[in-house]
Amino acid sequence: MRTVFQPRLILCRDALAAAEQTAVHVAAALRGHQVLGLATGATMLPLYEALHEQLKDARLAGRGVVGIALDEYVGLAAGHRASFAAYLDRAFMMPLRLDNGQVVIPDGIAADRAGAAARHEAAIAAVGGIDLQLLGIGANGHIGFNEPGSALDSVTRDVTLAPDTRLAQAQAFGSLANVPYQAITAGIATILAARELLMLVTGEAKAVALTAALEGAIGPHCPASALRLHPNAVVICDVAAASLLQDRSLIEEISETC
Ligand code: GLP
Repeated sequence: MRTVFQPRLILCRDALAAAEQTAVHVAAALRGHQVLGLATGATMLPLYEALHEQLKDARLAGRGVVGIALDEYVGLAAGHRASFAAYLDRAFMMPLRLDNGQVVIPDGIAADRAGAAARHEAAIAAVGGIDLQLLGIGANGHIGFNEPGSALDSVTRDVTLAPDTRLAQAQAFGSLANVPYQAITAGIATILAARELLMLVTGEAKAVALTAALEGAIGPHCPASALRLHPNAVVICDVAAASLLQDRSLIEEISETC
């Protein structure tokens, strides 16, 4: 029998407040020399901006690995604007003046994808594991690129993106035809191995997925439901994302800090 936990839920009035609240948590982790698991996506952009503000005086360069990315598309040319490597460079590494090598990203252009996935797991092990894993959520309940159907004991591997996930990324790539079909992603077990999980969820478009993750059955049909298998998980969301939650015990007041 697996143990099920209730993640701590912090409710904020809007997306910006939620991002700022998340940044407080992440900045404290980085100041405490913790290794951060990095997520991408539009939801995370205001978080990274707020993080930059909060860490202006912190010296992170020269410290060794600071962050390990969750995932990367397969087959994009190095430096492709829509790659997660380019995203993290713009949003995280450049503002915080990090050196190359301080952020580890799955190698999406490796000929041997299984080898690239194994190297990613090895990189996580080499830093002693991830302390704080940031997570977003896909509208279909994915975490990283663990699409519905992903095994709860999955580790880093190459995966095929769901059609709706490709559609959601079409704008970033200019057209649907340009969106890669595959990615390398940390698995659900890889994510659950982090010491703490911190999921940021904002906007009405994520309300169904968040409700399924927190109140539905736990299983591969909703990868984000795996959050409830972790003893130390926090969800920071805005009112719009929380709007369909039925369990009022989950949603108390808007947190004072939000
Ligand atoms: C991508 C990433 C996820 C992210 C999700 C949601 O597919 N692989 O890590 O959580 O999309 O992105 P957004 O915040 O843009 O909705």
